[in-house]
Amino acid sequence: MNVVILAAGQGKRMHSDLPKVLHPLAGKALLGHVIDTARELGAGKICVVYGHGGERVRAALDAPDLAWARQEPQLGTGHAVLQAMPVTAASAPTGSSTLVLYGDVPLTRVDTLKRLIAAAGGDKLALLTAHVDNPQGYGRIVRSEGLVTRIVEEKDADDAEKAIREINTGILVAPTAALARWLPGLGNRNAQGEYYLTDIVALAVAEGMPVVTAHPAAAWETEGVNSKLQLAALERVHQRNVAEALMEAGVTLADPARIDVRGELVCGRDVTIDVNCVFEGRVVLGDGVRIKANCVLEDAVVGAGSIVGPFARLRPGTELGSDVHIGNFVEVKNSSIADHSKANHLAYLGDATIGSRVNVGAGTITCNYDGANKFRTVIEDDVFIGSDTQLVAPVTVGRGATLGAGTTLTRDAPPDQLTVSRAKQVAVPGWKRPAKLPKPQNKD
Ligand code: UD1
Ligand code: MG
Repeated sequence: MNVVILAAGQGKRMHSDLPKVLHPLAGKALLGHVIDTARELGAGKICVVYGHGGERVRAALDAPDLAWARQEPQLGTGHAVLQAMPVTAASAPTGSSTLVLYGDVPLTRVDTLKRLIAAAGGDKLALLTAHVDNPQGYGRIVRSEGLVTRIVEEKDADDAEKAIREINTGILVAPTAALARWLPGLGNRNAQGEYYLTDIVALAVAEGMPVVTAHPAAAWETEGVNSKLQLAALERVHQRNVAEALMEAGVTLADPARIDVRGELVCGRDVTIDVNCVFEGRVVLGDGVRIKANCVLEDAVVGAGSIVGPFARLRPGTELGSDVHIGNFVEVKNSSIADHSKANHLAYLGDATIGSRVNVGAGTITCNYDGANKFRTVIEDDVFIGSDTQLVAPVTVGRGATLGAGTTLTRDAPPDQLTVSRAKQVAVPGWKRPAKLPKPQNKD
């Protein structure tokens, strides 16, 4: 089976310079969601019809398994699918089918599409339709004695047709050979002067090909994005779905409405996540991990029993061992922190390798960047770092060493010793606080 994804439309109502299908939902382009759905279906050829936004769309999402067909100008959905036929029909084995998806409809479930494909059975035209309370704007499914006879677009419909509440979602499956036969013959004598893909329904009926329907399980599966409002609404639907899947797998969420997963979140057993946490890229949380409120984690691995937050930020390349504590206002980047180590308050740990049972005091900063290059800080096992310490990389703190509070470490600290760099404390005998000077007199 081949998949054609229509993504050439403009998306005026987004009021944006970014092509509509590149707007992100859960951190991934709308079109990226649709492409991934096609991949999950195990599609033979995936052809994206693009046009508005030009090569930017292609450049953003190109991959070896994708074919691209440029539609210029955009003369309607039938014209759009026609552009893909040289790619899809040419390589299609006889008896193959083509599934048409929309690049701005991101959340269609694979299960639903599998039911549609099964209904098509390789020799029928199958439409994904829905019964809605307000059908305005959609193409209507016209039936006679229960059988689909054609689709009429809102702008071409009379009052009786406008009253039909079964709508065309736009998603359909057709035998590839039939599509190749029908599409070049479509006309555009309709209210919009467009080549309508929907006109193939009447052509199938005329040929005696059965037209069947399947329906999405939920309305949001076939909702498209035309505005920032609709984008935000589908983002919430998606996040709710992700939260439900996490809870079904045993994760405790303080509030399923206050978590955002923009990527893949892999959780062990008995993971607890408090409110307002954002997960980006691939994040792995081991058994018993607790993420407290207001944390941001991106491409990070957190070992079993560790505690992160509140208000912590784990940036890409963070690897925490087990029973590690990362507290409030601690940022970790491209660093590994081994078992039982703690950085509980106010720290920046970047490009660091930190051993086991290390205590990182409040206000510790790894100075990893000299303005041009980045260097590593190595902190060996059992080190104690006093508060307000700067480690100017590259630098190593030997096993069991203690750094006194306020130290600016520019050379390696030997193991098992106290290293401290700060001015000696003095008390000045007889020192007086300055007194206020008398106000100058005005001479006028
Ligand atoms: C289309 C259907 C309508 C259905 C509705 C569902 C037709 C004629 N009508 O209407 O029955 O109820 O979708 O939302 O098919 N596109 C292109 N090139 C074009 C035109 C469109 O790639 O020349 C793409 C758009 O980017 C979009 C999709 O096709 O992803 C649908 O286009 P849109 O203009 O939204 O179609 P509607 O008029 O809403
Ligand atoms: Mg539309």
